[in-house]
Order: sequence, then C-alpha cells, then structure tokens
Amino acid sequence: MTAGKSALIIGASRGLGYALAAEFLSRGWQVAATERTPSALHELTGRDLVVETVDIAVPEQVAALRERLAGSAFDLLFVNAGTNYTTDPSATFADVSTEDFAQVMVTNALSPMRVVETLQDLVPATGTIGVMSSGQGSVTDNTNGGFEVYRASKSALNQLMRSFAARHAADPRTLLLMAPGWVKTDLGGPGARLTIDESIPGVADTIEAWTGKGGLHYLDRQGQTVNW
Ligand SMILES: NC(=O)c1ccc[n+]([C@@H]2O[C@H](COP(=O)([O-])OP(=O)(O)OC[C@H]3O[C@@H](n4cnc5c(N)ncnc54)[C@H](OP(=O)(O)O)[C@@H]3O)[C@@H](O)[C@H]2O)c1
Repeated sequence: MTAGKSALIIGASRGLGYALAAEFLSRGWQVAATERTPSALHELTGRDLVVETVDIAVPEQVAALRERLAGSAFDLLFVNAGTNYTTDPSATFADVSTEDFAQVMVTNALSPMRVVETLQDLVPATGTIGVMSSGQGSVTDNTNGGFEVYRASKSALNQLMRSFAARHAADPRTLLLMAPGWVKTDLGGPGARLTIDESIPGVADTIEAWTGKGGLHYLDRQGQTVNW
C-alpha cells in the first residue's frame, strides 16, 4: 500500500491499461485514467478514480486534456495506449499498406511521445514518466522476426524516448519503457503466455521500485533490463 501517490494512466479503457488503473487504486493511489469512449473504467467506482477522455492520436484532444488538468500533479504519468491493428495483422513490411503502417507508427510511437511532451510538466522532479513498450521493441532480441510492423513501432517508441531522455539529460525524473510480457488481451490474443493478473502486478511493482532512481530504463515486469 502506497498512500498519497497519484497516477495518470493514458489508455485505460480495457486490457493492460484498465488493469494497471485498478492495480494502483488497490494500492491506495489516486488515479486519473483515460478512455476514448465510455468504457468499463466507470465500473471502478471509488473516490480515488477520475475518468478522463483522450484520443492520443488527436493533438487537439491531448492539448485539451492538458488544459483540463491544469493545476494537477501526478507522481506517475504512464502512457499505455497502443495498437497492433493492421488490415492483415500478419503482414510483413513488404506487404503492409502505407496507410496501415502509418497508423500503427503514429499510434504507438509518435502519439505516446506527444502525450509525454504535452503532459510532462504535470510530473514533479521526484516523479516517473512511463510508456508501455514491448519486448518486441528490442532490436537486439529480434532473432525470430514476425509482427514486423508492430515491432518497428515499439522500436521507434524506444528510440523517441531515448531522444527525450537525451534532450532532458539534467532532468531528475525517472523514465521507464515497460515490457509487460505476452499477455492475453484483445491485442495479445488468446494464445498469449500470461494472464493480465500474471503481468500487471509485476509491472506496477517495477514502476514503484524504480521511482526516484532517475535515468531511463527499459524493463520487463520482473524489473530485469531488456536489451535495446
Ligand atoms: N498484450 C500484450 O501481449 C502486450 C505485450 C507488450 C506490450 N503491450 C502493449 O501494452 C499496451 C496495452 O495493450 P493491451 O494488450 O492491453 O491492448 P488492448 O486490450 O487492445 O488495449 C489497447 C488500449 O489502448 C487504447 N488505445 C488504442 N489507441 C488509442 C488512441 N489512439 N488513443 C487512446 N487510447 C488508445 C485502447 O482504447 P480503446 O478501447 O478506445 O480502443 C485500449 O484501452 C499497448 O501499448 C501494447 O502495445 C501489450
């Protein structure tokens, strides 16, 4: 139980983001969590949850969210939203349409980092800014291929976060890229290795354990460093 902490979780309508919001609420945090359209978030009743709305791919909506949150401060900003949607999910980069490739890149790489840029001043010097990456974002570990477009988007996300870290080298805040494991969600599919309950408590433990350490870290749910 970590009393008095607050988190802003972006993309929490279902799957891992929803579970992360529920996990931090159960740990005594105050949570602001976002959806695009009315979602199960509203069933997480309790005075410590505020539900907000944003589509991270629409900069005007991100700016409007920042305006609504003026005066707020969060110990944790965590951008979870992501997609693997392409018309043909097994498409290689050789087959994918330009439109699908752009949509995955914009949703998974550019938009989360735009959210970080726009909302980062809501996080104090002692706080943490995290983004949901994936083990599939590792260039080093990509020996088997597959999920080529999704992988590329998470590698791009990691690279953009490194650029953000380099640009804020004197910033004391902790920056995290999290790899939750392969998890049964709409995105992960029914054949995934882990249940949400086997992933998210570890993700939350790792976020809590790294709070205050500073620097940029690419970590799995057990707090182990993932190869870049
Ligand atoms: N499941 C896995 O095995 C796995 C492994 C590694 C990393 N991840 C990452 O974990 C994150 C969550 O994945 P998940 O498995 O929980 O997937 P999911 O069940 O498909 O949930 C995706 C979440 O992202 C939100 N989202 C998508 N596009 C958005 C946008 N433009 N603006 C705002 N919200 C948006 C969705 O909102 P809507 O309900 O409005 O669509 C939903 O809340 C993603 O970043 C994913 O890449 C997942």
